[in-house]
Amino acid sequence: MGTILKVEKLVKKFGNLRAVDNVSFEVPEKSITLLIGPNGSGKTTLLNCIAGIYKPDAGKIWFNGKDITGRQPHEIVNMGIMKTFQIPAVFSRLSLAENLLVFYRKNPGEKLINSFFKKRWINEEKLATLKLFETVQTLEIESQFNRRANELSGGQLKLLEYSKLLMAEPTLCLLDEPVGSINPVLANKIFSYITEARNNMGKTFIIVEHRLDIAVKYVDYIYVLVNGRILCEGVPEEVLKRKELYEVYLSPLPA
Ligand SMILES: Nc1ncnc2c1ncn2[C@@H]1O[C@H](COP(=O)(O)OP(=O)(O)OP(=O)(O)O)[C@@H](O)[C@H]1O
Ligand SMILES: [Mg+2]
Repeated sequence: MGTILKVEKLVKKFGNLRAVDNVSFEVPEKSITLLIGPNGSGKTTLLNCIAGIYKPDAGKIWFNGKDITGRQPHEIVNMGIMKTFQIPAVFSRLSLAENLLVFYRKNPGEKLINSFFKKRWINEEKLATLKLFETVQTLEIESQFNRRANELSGGQLKLLEYSKLLMAEPTLCLLDEPVGSINPVLANKIFSYITEARNNMGKTFIIVEHRLDIAVKYVDYIYVLVNGRILCEGVPEEVLKRKELYEVYLSPLPA
C-alpha cells in the first residue's frame, strides 16, 4: 500500500509556543489513523497545517508525493484533502440539505457566463441532488432534511459535519473530534460509517478523538501527541499498553 501523506519535521509556532514541534509521520492510503493527546497538545493545529488553514513555520507536507506545504485551503480541498471541525461549522439559517449542497464541489452554474446557459449546469445540478439524497439516506438523516441547522441537536450537527465529506468526496479526510460529546450509540454509528467509507470507497482518515473507548476499535494505527511532539505510536493493542500514555493522558486529574 502506498503512502498518501508524509509529514516531515513540521513546526507551527504561536509566539513562543511550539504548538507542533518537529512532527514527522507517514500515513498509508486507505488507512484509519488516530491522533490522541491531552488538551492543548497540538492535535487540531497539526490537522490545520495539513488542511492549509495554518501555514507551518518549518517542515514539509507531501500529499501523494506532491509538496503541499503552505498551500491555500481551497487548493488543498481541490487536491482531495478535507477537514471537518471540532465545533461543527454550519450555516445556521440554512437547512441541513442546503448546508450539504454547499459542499458539492462541481458547480458550473456559479460562473456568470455559464449561468445564462441552462444546459451547461443542469446535469451537474441533478447529480448534486442525487448525491444529497444518497448522503442523507446513507447516514439516516432524511427526517432532518429541511430543518434549519440551528434547530439540530449536537448529535445531528456531528452527523451533518461528517456528511459534508460524503458530498465533497475528498480522498484524505481529516476529522477533528467527530464523536465528541455525543451518545455512544451514535458515536459507534459514525465510526461504522467511517469504516464503510474506507472499505467501500477507499478513503483515508486521520482522526483526532478523545473518546478512546470507542475509537480504538476502528483504527489501524495511533499517534500520541504531547506538547506538540509525538510521544509514542503503534497499533492500538501496543499503544494502549504503553505506560507513558497513562502518565500523560489517562492519569487522574490532581485533586
Ligand atoms: N490560533 C491560535 N493562536 C494562539 N495559540 C493557539 C492557537 N491555536 C492553538 N493555540 C495553542 O496551541 C496549543 C495547541 O492547541 P490545539 O488546539 O492544537 O490543541 P488540541 O490538541 O487540539 O487540544 P484539544 O484536545 O483541547 O482540542 C494550545 O496551547 C493552544 O492554546
Ligand atoms: Mg483540538
